[in-house]
Amino acid sequence: MDLAVIGAGHVGLVTSACFAQMGHRVIGVDKEHKVTQLREVDLGLYEPGLEEMVRRQQKEGRLIFTSSIGEAVKASQVIFITVGTPSNPDGSADVSSVEEVAQLIARHLEEYRLIVEKSTVPVRTGEWLKRTLRLYNTRGVEFDVASVPEFLREGSAIKDFLHPDRVVLGVESPRAERLLRELFGPLGAPLVVTDIRSAELIKHASNCFLAMKISYINTIASIAEKVGADVDLIARGVGLDHRIGQEFLQAGIGYGGSCFPKDVAAFIRITEELGYDFRLLKEVEEINRGQRLRLVRKVKEALWVLRNKEVAVLGLAFKPNTDDIRDSPSIGVVQLLVAEGARVRATDPVAIKNARQVLGESVRFCQDPYEAAEGAHALVIVTDWDEYKDLDLARLKAVMAIPVIVDGRNVLEPQVVRAAGFEYYGVGR
Ligand SMILES: NC(=O)c1ccc[n+]([C@@H]2O[C@H](COP(=O)([O-])OP(=O)(O)OC[C@H]3O[C@@H](n4cnc5c(N)ncnc54)[C@H](O)[C@@H]3O)[C@@H](O)[C@H]2O)c1
Repeated sequence: MDLAVIGAGHVGLVTSACFAQMGHRVIGVDKEHKVTQLREVDLGLYEPGLEEMVRRQQKEGRLIFTSSIGEAVKASQVIFITVGTPSNPDGSADVSSVEEVAQLIARHLEEYRLIVEKSTVPVRTGEWLKRTLRLYNTRGVEFDVASVPEFLREGSAIKDFLHPDRVVLGVESPRAERLLRELFGPLGAPLVVTDIRSAELIKHASNCFLAMKISYINTIASIAEKVGADVDLIARGVGLDHRIGQEFLQAGIGYGGSCFPKDVAAFIRITEELGYDFRLLKEVEEINRGQRLRLVRKVKEALWVLRNKEVAVLGLAFKPNTDDIRDSPSIGVVQLLVAEGARVRATDPVAIKNARQVLGESVRFCQDPYEAAEGAHALVIVTDWDEYKDLDLARLKAVMAIPVIVDGRNVLEPQVVRAAGFEYYGVGR
């Protein structure tokens, strides 16, 4: 099939490359400067395997990039919208890019097209899309709108796209359903066919449920700390119940990234507009915000005074295998430490470039954990990169000023760390 994917960010690039690999002809669309970067420099993001996949599909002629929405609309039967929907200051989703793209698609419609929203959008965006496409499509060309929310996780995005747990197809016409079944059927995943509003709600309901699981286990961690129990054992005991499941029950410094914080905030706003006070979700948000403060408090309790202390921070990305620092808990922790007067020495395998743009000269960036630990009074683990699970403790102890480890992701074994001569503070253990 001939496809267009508008918005060549994390979701758009994965969608484009995976569809191309499945044998479709794909036109990826983005702004001029982004297209130039994509063609001549790099993807502008780190996702394992993606750069190779994109370059292979480009070479084989199934994937091209353009900044012309007109060209893409003309050539493609199905058009995916994968532009960003960041938070407005009040927490609601900023859908201005979706609207802008819808207008442009409408102006270039010449024959039937299926326009699919893949960006995460508030429920009823489908109706706004239809209205916009109708109003600006002055030739009255026929079209359908559908919603196929994306559930991929950064860091394992290609696998998640090609092997999803399910694909949700929010459709309103047999024609749209047929086209989408043809596209997504070969993935072999269960297809959940719904109306558009339900599909939109499924995305927010899923992400908010996962955020709720994280805040839930973090609350249990705080209770475990008070009574001297171990939250990791509790999570195992709870999570083996198949009705609950083990995933997203890792206590730590809370969720971050470009999705959960903004989707929780947006869902609270959407439901508010619908006249519902979603107190449960507000609490989820509040607990999450508190986790960063709690971690910094632990560092402070270990060192008594933070002012002028050297603190090594391991991990800047919001999670492993990505260089994405959008709403990263780590950045929040670093900022809190700096505000307390600590001198932060931060490291990350891939996210330093992005972190530097936000943190500037307020911290010193180091190549690896051992350089960061030199002269440090505490070492704080905030992103659970694999390389931080296997640290050379003797080497760290030899270079640190005093042996204190604060493990914000519970990646180390407390007994092992203590046996190596460190003071160890985890989350809920
Ligand atoms: N990142 C994730 O893990 C993930 C997972 C599932 C869903 N989502 C959702 O998918 C959407 C996209 O997320 P992302 O992380 O890929 O965002 P992103 O910011 O990485 O990429 C968005 C891209 O859209 C482009 N864009 C914006 N306006 C445009 C326009 N008018 N014309 C052409 N291109 C335009 C931007 O230049 C950018 O490259 C969001 O709604 C997000 O919530 C993201």
